[in-house]
Formats: sequence, C-alpha cells, structure tokens
Amino acid sequence: MGNVLTSVKALPLLAVCVFAAASYPAIPRDRTTPVQQRLAVKGPNAVSVGWNTYKKLDKACVQYGTSSDALSSQICSANSVTYPTSRTYSNAVTLTGLTPATTYYYRIVSTNSSVDHFLSPRVPGDKTPFTMNAVIDMGVYGADGYTIQGDSAKRDTIPQIDPSLNHTTIDRLAQTVDDYEFVIHPGDFAYADDWFEKPKNLLHGTNAFEAILEQFYEQLSPISSRKAYMASPGNHEVACQEVPLLSGLCPEGQRNFTDFINRFGKTMPGAFTSTSSNSDAKINANKASLLANPPFWYSFEYGMVHVTMIDTETDFANAPDQPGGSAGLYGGPFGKSNQQLDFLAADLASVDRTVTPWVIVGGHRPWYTTKGSTPCTPCQRAFEPLLYKYGVDLAVFGHVHNSQRFLPVNNSVADPAGMNDPKAPMYIVAGGAGNIEGLTAIGANASTNVFAYAEDFSYATISPLDEQRLKVEFVRSRTGEVLDSSVLFKSHGKQFVVQ
Ligand SMILES: *[C@@H]1O[C@H](CO)[C@@H](O)[C@H](O)[C@H]1NC(C)=O
Ligand SMILES: *[C@@H]1O[C@H](CO)[C@@H](O)[C@H](O)[C@H]1NC(C)=O
Ligand SMILES: *[C@@H]1O[C@H](CO)[C@@H](O)[C@H](O)[C@H]1NC(C)=O
Ligand SMILES: *[C@@H]1O[C@H](CO)[C@@H](O)[C@H](O)[C@H]1NC(C)=O
Ligand SMILES: *[C@@H]1O[C@H](CO)[C@@H](O)[C@H](O)[C@H]1NC(C)=O
Repeated sequence: MGNVLTSVKALPLLAVCVFAAASYPAIPRDRTTPVQQRLAVKGPNAVSVGWNTYKKLDKACVQYGTSSDALSSQICSANSVTYPTSRTYSNAVTLTGLTPATTYYYRIVSTNSSVDHFLSPRVPGDKTPFTMNAVIDMGVYGADGYTIQGDSAKRDTIPQIDPSLNHTTIDRLAQTVDDYEFVIHPGDFAYADDWFEKPKNLLHGTNAFEAILEQFYEQLSPISSRKAYMASPGNHEVACQEVPLLSGLCPEGQRNFTDFINRFGKTMPGAFTSTSSNSDAKINANKASLLANPPFWYSFEYGMVHVTMIDTETDFANAPDQPGGSAGLYGGPFGKSNQQLDFLAADLASVDRTVTPWVIVGGHRPWYTTKGSTPCTPCQRAFEPLLYKYGVDLAVFGHVHNSQRFLPVNNSVADPAGMNDPKAPMYIVAGGAGNIEGLTAIGANASTNVFAYAEDFSYATISPLDEQRLKVEFVRSRTGEVLDSSVLFKSHGKQFVVQ
C-alpha cells in the first residue's frame, strides 16, 4: 500500500540523522554462488528455477533427478541478465518432463552450491487435497525493514527479534514448509522503494533500493528454493520511490517494474494447454496463452485448482500505476489495447470444471475492503464482471495491510446463497504478511465483511478439500494460531460456467 504521508513527514529528518551506507549483503568470494533462489510452476510437467549471481554466467545450469546422489539430468540457458544499478545477474532455467507430484533433487551448478529439493507440480485433474498459501505485502526484515522504531504505533507493537530469518511470516512459512505445496504472492515484495524510511539511507537511495532487494529475496530463499513461489505485480514493484512527484526522477533500472521483470519474467508461466476434451476449451486456452504476459498476467493449473494472476497496477482503464494514473508511478502499459482483459476472459472461459473444479484469481489491489482503506474502483470496473461471469470461486488480494474475509459478493451485494453454492466469488484480503509500513487499521465494518484482523502479522492458507469444498484459513504468523476458518461449498455441477 502507499505511504505518502509518512514519507513526506520523514523528509525533515534529513537534517538530524547520521548517514551510513546502504545495507548491502556481503558479496560471496565465489561470485558464481547462487543467491535469491526461486522456483515456479512453469507448466504441467515443468518447474522453473531462478537465481541471482554476483557475476554474469556464460551458462546458467541446473542438475536434477529423483535421487539426491544421482542428479542425472542437466539443463542450461544463456539467460544471465542485469540492469543499470543492479549488482547481480538474474538467471533462469526450466526443468521439463517432470513426473508429477514427485520429489526432485536439484543443484544449481556452481563451485559453491548444494543440493535442494522440491515436489513437482500435480497435474491438472489430480484430485488430491493440498494447501497453498497466500502471502502479500511481505517486506524485508531487519535493518531496512519492519523492526524499526518508527512513528507508526502499530509498527512498534511488532516484536523485535534478531536473527534475520525471524521475519515472523517467513519464519512461519519455513517452519511449516511441509504443510503447503506452493505460495502465491500477488504483489509488494521487498518494499525497496521505502528505502527513505530509514535515515541511514537518505543519501544513498539508489544503493539502498538495490540493497533491500538483495536482502529481501535472500531472506525469502529458504521458502522459494523449496516451494513454487508465484509472483504478480504490486505498486511497490514499480519504481525507486513511491512518492508520485519523485518517481519521474528514478534512475534507469529503478523505473517501470525493471527488477520485477528481470527477476520473474523468465520464470512465471503463461497459460497451460488445456487438457479438456472440449474443443472450445482448447481454443480459449490457446488464445489465453497467446495473450498471457508473465510476470504481469498469466495462469497455471495445479491439481484441482486453476489459478489466474492479474495485474491490478497497469493495463486497464484508469489503471492506478500507469502514466496519468492515480498513483503517479509511470509504469506500463505492458500489453496491447485490452490485452489483459482479453486474456482474462479467454483464460476463465477455458476452465473445464471437471478437470480443475476450483478457480482462484490473485491480484494486488482489492475492491472489497473494510472502511479503513480505499477500494480500487477502476479494478472493480475492469475485473469484477469477468470474475462473476465465469464463476470464479475465490479472489485473493492484498495491498491493505491486514487480513479480511468477505462473503461471496458481486457489485457490493452479498450473494443470497452465502457460502452454500453462491454464484458470486468469495473475496479475501491477505495483506498482513509484514512490512516496514506496518499494519492498516480495520476501520468501520463493511456489510459483507465477516472477518478482519490487524493486531499482528498474518497470512492465508487455501485448501481444496475435494471438488466441492474449499477451506480458507488465516494464520497468525508469530504463533501459528488459526484466526479464522471457513469452508466454501460449490456444487460445480456445470462443466463450463458462464452466467
Ligand atoms: C559459499 O556459499 C555460502 C552460502 O551458500 C556463502 O556463505 C559462502 O560465503 C560462499 N563461499 C564462497 C567462497 O563464496
Ligand atoms: C527465531 O528466533 C528464535 C528466538 O530468538 C530462535 O530460537 C529461532 O531459531 C529463530 N528462527 C530462525 C529461523 O532463525
Ligand atoms: C514500460 O515498459 C513497457 C514495456 O517495455 C513500455 O511499453 C512502456 O511504455 C514503459 N512505460 C513507461 C512509463 O516508460
Ligand atoms: C455483477 O457486478 C457487476 C459490476 O461489477 C454488474 O455490472 C453486474 O450486473 C453484476 N451481476 C449481477 C448478476 O448482479
Ligand atoms: C460486519 O457486519 C456484518 C453485518 O452486520 C456482520 O455480519 C459481521 O459479522 C460484521 N463483521 C465484523 C468483522 O465485525
């Protein structure tokens, strides 16, 4: 979420603070050492491996196999890319032909790397129950992150604990790593553009921005090197500085989602080929695949679930982060006219519910939120009619820094069926994962809201129990306590939903 008021207040601090350098991590002596590892579901039988190095690699390679002492396959790419102001190179390869739902061992090829492992994706149509996590608005931990004694009362109630892995949400995700199969993170990752919140960074903006990205993605790697970590954009990915008047001054490399594109552009999927026997489904899926634009908008399938990630920042009418948009961040557009919405319509129309009964949409800015925050009205205008028309079951947003659950709702009217086979999507906000801006107060109730929590950092777990029941829980990161639990029932009687 934005934080313009805090940042403007922070500027007078300039006069009194002690200046120190940006908090860059130490560069490993062996510059081929993989850092910031991240996996993603890239296809029904494919996983991408992304990582950074402190030098350009001629060949970026990963060895893998189903036994830790026989990494019999190797795949390489010549994809080692960087951008002005970055110290690192992003590398990416895709492991293909994987046997589904099988433990694979892999080693990023370097003179200084070790073997890790992951579970390969479940094929579309596998009806085994599983859990995925929704984590949004996470933020770096430590010297540049949420442990500061800031001016937000709420922020100060979060306990300060060293060592750096004690970001309470990252720590919880690490401790429970065997309990979920992948993570979706629709936007707002490191909060690198909040570098100016720390007085020590004030004269070192360009480096501080990069230092925060390096710290954050390394803090995340114990999770993202083990689990597919599915990313889509938020407002904090756009530019070096989210104060609208200043973003035009960002150096090259720190504008227009550059790091986000370098980091995730080659690792996120497009849209899967349909496994439906229906020919319209195949045609729509092919169309979606041509219109997909990862890492901004794309889809993937996993067992009982079809997940579509949307871009609430750019590429629709009055998109907030586009030039002329309300956020003034000068990002995008990334597609041709109406490409994102054409993608969304084709993608949702392609879903065969006999294969993947559950359809989940993930995006950054919500249009249903309690009165403590502003809904994204242009997002609602652009996306809600399609979500309703194609019977999306659950929509997951963040941007507002707390946890919220809404009844199934369309056009701000609760579906009369409630949780018992509604036609309208159920909505949640899972933006309380933890970041330097602190938590957002709930404010007054909104009529369709049934749960709201802003006392401590939290996130959501989403579990398809079977073809008709989807469990959604909110978890308090520090304790693991389940704060709210609900089960959505959908009969899923129609192979293709159009309403
Ligand atoms: C090897 O990698 C580890 C982290 O994986 C790092 O701590 C260490 O400094 C690296 N060693 C060299 C020589 O770069
Ligand atoms: C988090 O902090 C606690 C207490 O300081 C410590 O016992 C634990 O090992 C830390 N967790 C990680 C992942 O570093
Ligand atoms: C951002 O990048 C896209 C893709 O390269 C480009 O089409 C667009 O014009 C850029 N936007 C700005 C504001 O520079
Ligand atoms: C659903 O909401 C949209 C506005 O987002 C509205 O145009 C449409 O009429 C609603 N559909 C129904 C069936 O209420
Ligand atoms: C908000 O109001 C609705 C309707 O009055 C009520 O059902 C719901 O429990 C309230 N939500 C919260 C979080 O208090």
